[in-house]
Amino acid sequence: MDVEIFRSLRLGPGAQALERAVAAFDAGVDPLVVATDVRREVPGLTPELASAALTQAQLRRRARAKFGAAAERMWFTPDGLEQATRAEVAAHRAGRFAALSGRLSRPANVADLCCGIGGDLQALSAAGCAVTGFDNDAMTVEAARANIEAVQLDAAVECLDVETLDVNSFDAVFIDPARRRDGRRVFDVNAVTPAWTFVRHLLASKPGAAKMAPGIPHHIVPPGVEAEWVSFGGDLKEAVLWASDLATRDVRRRATLLPGGETLTDADETPAEVLAPARFLYEPDPAVVRAHLVGAAAKQVNGGLLDATTAYITSDINVATPFARAFEITDVMPFSVKRLRQTLHERGVGAVTIMKRGSAVDVEQLRRDLRLNGRDHTVVVLALLNGRRGVILARPVT
Ligand SMILES: C[S@@+](CC[C@H](N)C(=O)[O-])C[C@H]1O[C@@H](n2cnc3c(N)ncnc32)[C@H](O)[C@@H]1O
Repeated sequence: MDVEIFRSLRLGPGAQALERAVAAFDAGVDPLVVATDVRREVPGLTPELASAALTQAQLRRRARAKFGAAAERMWFTPDGLEQATRAEVAAHRAGRFAALSGRLSRPANVADLCCGIGGDLQALSAAGCAVTGFDNDAMTVEAARANIEAVQLDAAVECLDVETLDVNSFDAVFIDPARRRDGRRVFDVNAVTPAWTFVRHLLASKPGAAKMAPGIPHHIVPPGVEAEWVSFGGDLKEAVLWASDLATRDVRRRATLLPGGETLTDADETPAEVLAPARFLYEPDPAVVRAHLVGAAAKQVNGGLLDATTAYITSDINVATPFARAFEITDVMPFSVKRLRQTLHERGVGAVTIMKRGSAVDVEQLRRDLRLNGRDHTVVVLALLNGRRGVILARPVT
């Protein structure tokens, strides 16, 4: 979609077509029928405008998962939506920039570098920062501007290559580099745009934050920078690198669980001992695992690790904690498909949830090999038990 078509989508027949398409998709009408109806019922639609309206309608519907009701008014490009930070995660991050405003006794002047369609831009503005967004893609800038207007916030957006920007006049910077190339997601920190070296220099020059893929290797986090791994609803979302005044003093690693906002840091971390399987097994939240804070989570449940190298915790007590899911252990055995199959058959188990860490077993092959036919369900955990391959049967603690 080009900028002219996008503008036409916001007015007259374009806007009408978009509204009709969203309503028809919501009513479950077949996409081919929606396309025909919209073209027939809205006079003055060019084929390009009709096609843009249908795409935008689909994007808005998909965007509800990230932006809730605001998605109904917002504007998206496929890549822009894919890469935008979901509203709750962006709001959590913006909270720290807002604290900077508190310290300055005025709205912090923040540059949002690589603002995309404006997920973080909106959150920073809503948190009271004086924010300017920058992106080098003209269509994306147009969408970011339209979004700021749509949600009635205040932020300037400029089309510019951020590598040419002088950030000196800003109190703080936020950068969310592109993690897509040729329409595909990239996971390697060296494949982001602008390059990791640019991000690293930026963090060394100003108070700020960078959003990175959660797989970022620990050893490349620069000295003095705090890395925060964030999950939402148990799904790992991102790693945020906090620099200078925005970093927490003496904290290098943090795990934050959203939407609740519970947080653990390396200040909470203690080495955990290796224990034999006890009554309960705990599977830590992925943010805790990626932040290497499993010892801190084990401490929360007065437990230890099943193996020094894998992130399963065991404890005699059942403690409700947001940092790990609890399971009650019913059986422990050495790894053997034959023995597992026999036990599950004896128990009348017909369905299993298979979890594994530190195991190369092909889960789908194992499921086939088990040839289950009973009525019950159990959780099968393939784990290292102090260096030996073991199997734990368990049920979730509700
Ligand atoms: C991950 S997205 C940003 C998402 C945004 N934080 C949000 O929540 O909507 C990255 C953006 O960086 C932009 N970008 C990549 N390289 C750039 C550069 N050198 N200068 C400006 N923008 C750039 C891309 O156009 C893309 O829109």
